[in-house]
Amino acid sequence: MSNFFALIPAAGSGSRMHNELPKQYLPLNNRPMIYHAISALFQNHRITRIFVVLAPNDNEWIKYDWSEFSEKLTTLNCGGATRAVSVLNGLTAAKQKNLIGASDWILVHDAARPCLTSIQLEKLINQLADDEVGGLLAVPVADTLKRGNAEYRIAHTESRENLWQAQTPQMFRYDLLTTALRNTANIHITDDASAVEALGLRPKLVLSDTYNFKVTYPQDLALAELIIQKRNNP
Ligand code: C5P
Repeated sequence: MSNFFALIPAAGSGSRMHNELPKQYLPLNNRPMIYHAISALFQNHRITRIFVVLAPNDNEWIKYDWSEFSEKLTTLNCGGATRAVSVLNGLTAAKQKNLIGASDWILVHDAARPCLTSIQLEKLINQLADDEVGGLLAVPVADTLKRGNAEYRIAHTESRENLWQAQTPQMFRYDLLTTALRNTANIHITDDASAVEALGLRPKLVLSDTYNFKVTYPQDLALAELIIQKRNNP
């Protein structure tokens, strides 16, 4: 029987938010944004531990009370220069604590996706628990896609047929994910599935919805706040 673990890379600076405070700590419904990601993972009964990968110089985490999650929460102060490095460092540190087996499932989830629902999470786990490769939540691209040039003119229109937007959680077995991330250490990748694809494997796309968007720009924060408020007061 494989175990299910979650890992949240939370060592980014969130430069596109134009805020001194790293994105994962921006206030969202009176909580730091990462609280909502942890809470969604914590409520899933199959996930037995949540690793949060912080920057080595993080001095925000200790300012908050995390005791409601303490039975499942482990922080690792080993974030790196990129998301991929933070994930790989976190996986390595977690293994050193003898907490993970080679074939255990790891669900990597961005701290900046606060609107993940229990239904999406359950669907991901159910669809992938017996899969050979693993996969991720994703949504089909809705907009028409333009390839721009340096002069802000359209070079051409991309077909959106079979195009998906990758979300998180992305769920892979421990050994496969660490091997894949080591293999792509010198390539710029922005998600975990890209590393697995580089091994010639085909991660599964599990249909999600746009509520699970990533907070990237200041206006995204207002939208996430509205969604969470509506859920708390239906
Ligand atoms: O910057 P971006 O939105 O792609 O970040 C996605 C996730 O990766 C965030 O949770 C962020 O904190 C994390 N990250 C990280 N280490 C980095 C860069 C990003 O853990 N060096």
